[in-house]
Amino acid sequence: MSAIITASGVAKTFRQAKRLPGLGGAIRSLFSRDYSQVHAVTEISFAIAAGEAVGYLGPNGAGKSTMIKMMTGILVPTAGSLSVLGREPHSQRMVNAAEIGVVFGQRSQLWWDLPVRDSFDLHRHIYDIAPARYTDNLAFLCDMLAMSDYLDRPVRQLSLGQRMRAEIAMALLHDPKILFLDEPTIGLDVVAKDAVRKFLAHINRERGTTIILTTHDLQDIEEICPRLIMVDDGKLLFDGELSRLRAALGSRRRLRLEFGTDPGPIALSTARLVNDEGAAKHFLLDSETTSILDVLTELGTGYDLKDVALVEPAIEEVIRTFYQQKPHLAAAP
Ligand SMILES: Nc1ncnc2c1ncn2[C@@H]1O[C@H](COP(=O)(O)OP(=O)(O)OP(=O)(O)O)[C@@H](O)[C@H]1O
Ligand SMILES: [Mg+2]
Repeated sequence: MSAIITASGVAKTFRQAKRLPGLGGAIRSLFSRDYSQVHAVTEISFAIAAGEAVGYLGPNGAGKSTMIKMMTGILVPTAGSLSVLGREPHSQRMVNAAEIGVVFGQRSQLWWDLPVRDSFDLHRHIYDIAPARYTDNLAFLCDMLAMSDYLDRPVRQLSLGQRMRAEIAMALLHDPKILFLDEPTIGLDVVAKDAVRKFLAHINRERGTTIILTTHDLQDIEEICPRLIMVDDGKLLFDGELSRLRAALGSRRRLRLEFGTDPGPIALSTARLVNDEGAAKHFLLDSETTSILDVLTELGTGYDLKDVALVEPAIEEVIRTFYQQKPHLAAAP
């Protein structure tokens, strides 16, 4: 597979004029040449192949939005080289725009006072979308994202979930090869998040649209992105399959035992009871030293055991462990 996005040693440093306090300070700042530097992104390298869905994850201020803005040509990297669909995004921004779609969860690209349909129509003119293709895409997106009810309402009257669906639809009207999304599920309720995730997973799978998304919601990654890029403080911490991250950290396994009737609390030496729901109990065991059989042997036959299941650690648990073990893992991602 050849890469359609490559970042090689990409860095972005913002230069900020230092402001002195008070009115006098503001006036002096006009003449001051004192700057401070913010290293938002430092030395980021990765390659993304066509058809991938990649989650870009990291704490606040880690440099995620900055990286999205560089890949979409909005910001110019300070160092390194960046190639999107064989082009340098910022110097060929217009050509690039025709082949990518961008959604910023925090900033609307729709016209606030116009009906959704009019924003879409403007998009059609700007991107010069052929009428038949536009009609087809609009029908497909309306159907998939259940938008027909509010297509003729002004954007300002829409709920956040409705607006976000419209934002995503607009970004896809011109059939982009890559869809960049910066926090597409921010502020959405559970139902709206679910609809957005299902849709993104669908277009990635069925249409082969490459997806790069930033998020703070790990469920987004779980449901859309098999690959995870984790950054902190502008640097790359991990790049790989979510399952590999799990495996790298996961000697601790969660075992779920289900009983016919609640046997009361159970204390074992091979596994630790971590969640007691009565008839269903969760135990934590170290799979390097203990097998399920060890636990079941210790449990004995005196219980009305109905089901035994090994539960994958939740992604939250994986990430938390990752941050705790960061120095050791960052060396060999
Ligand atoms: N235009 C700018 N001028 C100066 N500093 C900036 C600018 N844009 C971003 N920064 C700084 O760069 C760093 C990275 O910001 P960025 O917005 O990329 O973070 P992020 O990972 O998207 O965070 P969040 O999760 O909060 O959205 C932050 O320290 C931020 O203050
Ligand atoms: Mg951001």
